[in-house]
Amino acid sequence: MIRVDKDFALNMFSISGKVAIVTGATGALGGAVAKAYGYQGAKVVMTARNLAKLKELEQEFKAEGIDCAIFAADPAVTEDVIKLVDFAVATYGEVNILAVCHGYNNPKSILEQSVEDWQKIMDADLKSVYIVCKAVAEQMVRQNKGGKIVVTSSARSKMGMKNYTGYCASKGGCDLMIQSMACDLAPHHINVNTINPTVFRSDLTEWMFDPESAVYQNFLKRLPIGRLGEVQDFIGLATFLASPASDFLTGGNYDATGGYWSN
Ligand SMILES: NC(=O)c1ccc[n+]([C@@H]2O[C@H](COP(=O)([O-])OP(=O)(O)OC[C@H]3O[C@@H](n4cnc5c(N)ncnc54)[C@H](OP(=O)(O)O)[C@@H]3O)[C@@H](O)[C@H]2O)c1
Repeated sequence: MIRVDKDFALNMFSISGKVAIVTGATGALGGAVAKAYGYQGAKVVMTARNLAKLKELEQEFKAEGIDCAIFAADPAVTEDVIKLVDFAVATYGEVNILAVCHGYNNPKSILEQSVEDWQKIMDADLKSVYIVCKAVAEQMVRQNKGGKIVVTSSARSKMGMKNYTGYCASKGGCDLMIQSMACDLAPHHINVNTINPTVFRSDLTEWMFDPESAVYQNFLKRLPIGRLGEVQDFIGLATFLASPASDFLTGGNYDATGGYWSN
């Protein structure tokens, strides 16, 4: 007898009815993840620092029938994040999924960058991830029903780059922090994984999508799949890592690069 549960096989990608907090929801990847989760029937609490942008998103999503709520918070400020988790629980009763999709970079040579500029990147891309994951994990442990934490890291966590002493260090730290966190949280049935993208279309990366640009041409030499990422390419992995299909996976760094490391 092959031991595959039919009900599990048929529903393993479902996140319907789950409560998800999505950070960086006003950004390209966070917005896509929030909408994709919402389309799939999750209740989505969207957060970022800019309340006006959150309100626009809420209007757009609700017009499409997505069950969502918004809460403005800085993910690097513990008090903000605790209020965010309390808001999610007050609104929807619990938190089952955390998708961390916020981030920041200000590329500069170490010779031109101030320590304060470097620290700002570390706070936005590493300290904030710790704070958000900690607050949500504590809530998930209180609920005693397990949970899924999906953190957007970067392919740059695995390799340095000119002007990226802050970004690469924060993302490399993020990957290792998530592996350690996975060990702490596994006894509570909380899975923690990262997605590690190369270039996906956003306001900041739009210029790289010009087929005439040297950056685009150089990237394509490394990408067997033959194109850069669109936000829709991101939502499958973000859903998989939030769903029962990934119950056996934790502490992993999952490539979302179009084959960048193969070439
Ligand atoms: N797009 C790519 O090609 C790519 C590639 C590799 C990795 N990533 C990673 O994916 C994540 C999302 O990227 P994205 O392309 O969606 O970015 P994006 O479109 O620029 O959005 C960034 C999001 O993060 C928030 N944010 C900006 N600065 C912040 C700060 N200092 N502290 C806290 N939050 C801040 C923004 O909202 P508020 O300003 O309102 O808070 C926004 O919601 C980031 O971690 C990024 O490093 C992206």
